[in-house]
Amino acid sequence: MKSLFDKTGLKNLELKNRFIRSAMHEGLADKNDGSISPEILEIYESVAKGGAAAIITGFAFTIEGENPTHRMIAAYDDRFIDGFKKLTDTVHKHDAKIILQLASGGSQAKFNYRKRKIYGPSAVEHKFTGITPIEMTQKEMDQLVQAFGNAALRAKKGGFDGVQIHAAHGYLLSQFLSPYYNRRQDNYGGTLENRARIIFEVYREMREKVGNEFPVLIKINCSDFMEEDGFSFEESRYVCKRLDEMGIDLIEISGNVGFNQAEPQLIRPGINKDKQKQCYFSEYARQIAEEVDVPVSVVGGNRDFKMMTEILNNSKIQCFSLARTVLCEADAVNRFRENPGYEPACISCNQCWSLKQGNICIFNRKNP
Ligand SMILES: Cc1cc2nc3c(=O)[nH]c(=O)nc-3n(C[C@H](O)[C@H](O)[C@H](O)COP(=O)(O)O)c2cc1C
Repeated sequence: MKSLFDKTGLKNLELKNRFIRSAMHEGLADKNDGSISPEILEIYESVAKGGAAAIITGFAFTIEGENPTHRMIAAYDDRFIDGFKKLTDTVHKHDAKIILQLASGGSQAKFNYRKRKIYGPSAVEHKFTGITPIEMTQKEMDQLVQAFGNAALRAKKGGFDGVQIHAAHGYLLSQFLSPYYNRRQDNYGGTLENRARIIFEVYREMREKVGNEFPVLIKINCSDFMEEDGFSFEESRYVCKRLDEMGIDLIEISGNVGFNQAEPQLIRPGINKDKQKQCYFSEYARQIAEEVDVPVSVVGGNRDFKMMTEILNNSKIQCFSLARTVLCEADAVNRFRENPGYEPACISCNQCWSLKQGNICIFNRKNP
């Protein structure tokens, strides 16, 4: 029987258990330029002590000025490498691994969006933000691909154990996958292979820059759950298979797009008392894990130790990612280790998601 506390691995990286802290933006990087701040070091130190084998950072931006939200971690310049080293040293002291998540926002932006140019696959108004982006030219797409590759190399130089491409939740790369947002007539639109092309190019560029031994992960939707023309489950299965063939090192399955109320929402509220609503992307992840060789992690409502153990033993899912539970109790994984019957304190009220300040839970309300 497999246990959530089995050692596992991705590529040559040993993971001390099957728990991953999923990406969570804190809004606490340096106010002026997004470099690693003392608050960020403090947060990651407490999470690193908390028992998860690996921590994925909040999304970091790869092009100066392109951050979709406030005080994101910046990865667009070599000057951030020193801060990365401080962060990774801090986490490594506590026997945890740390992965830098790299993202591009596109029209799913809520920061500074009136003062800058916003790019997208096509000039289609965003359903929720109302922003109509500028359709990217070939040159702009090439620059984006380069920017992801350069940021991945900075992550490696800064001591990270890997990088994760954020291709989920309706941000720019996720929009390329979506027939609704991507109406391009060139090699980057139309067929699924075309819509996924930029993600494949980002992956290849990163691999080229960081080499074969450095883990490159991806977070991707199992479906956009949009009423019309979203990226579908069938399409997600295909893209995951292609990424597997290309050599991706771990696929983290999430789902839905920001602001969409269709169920299951990506950060589903009100799930703590209702087990039926937990582990809400696990059925999709189970099927994808059957079809790929690469390790699969599933995120979304993982709360109950018994339920996760059952899923682990009835599927090829290798890891379980936790977000809100760890925001509420940084040591949630240690608590599971000490007591498998432990019930996380997070009540999935989603105040952490809606409040403007970063990294705040109503239970550990700490206002840095
Ligand atoms: C405050 C907050 C910030 C988040 N920031 C990110 C992010 O930067 N990148 C990302 O991929 N997902 C982000 N997420 C989504 C989580 O990684 C995760 O997919 C979602 O919360 C569902 O998992 P959970 O039920 O364990 O919370 C964020 C979630 C929360 C609550």
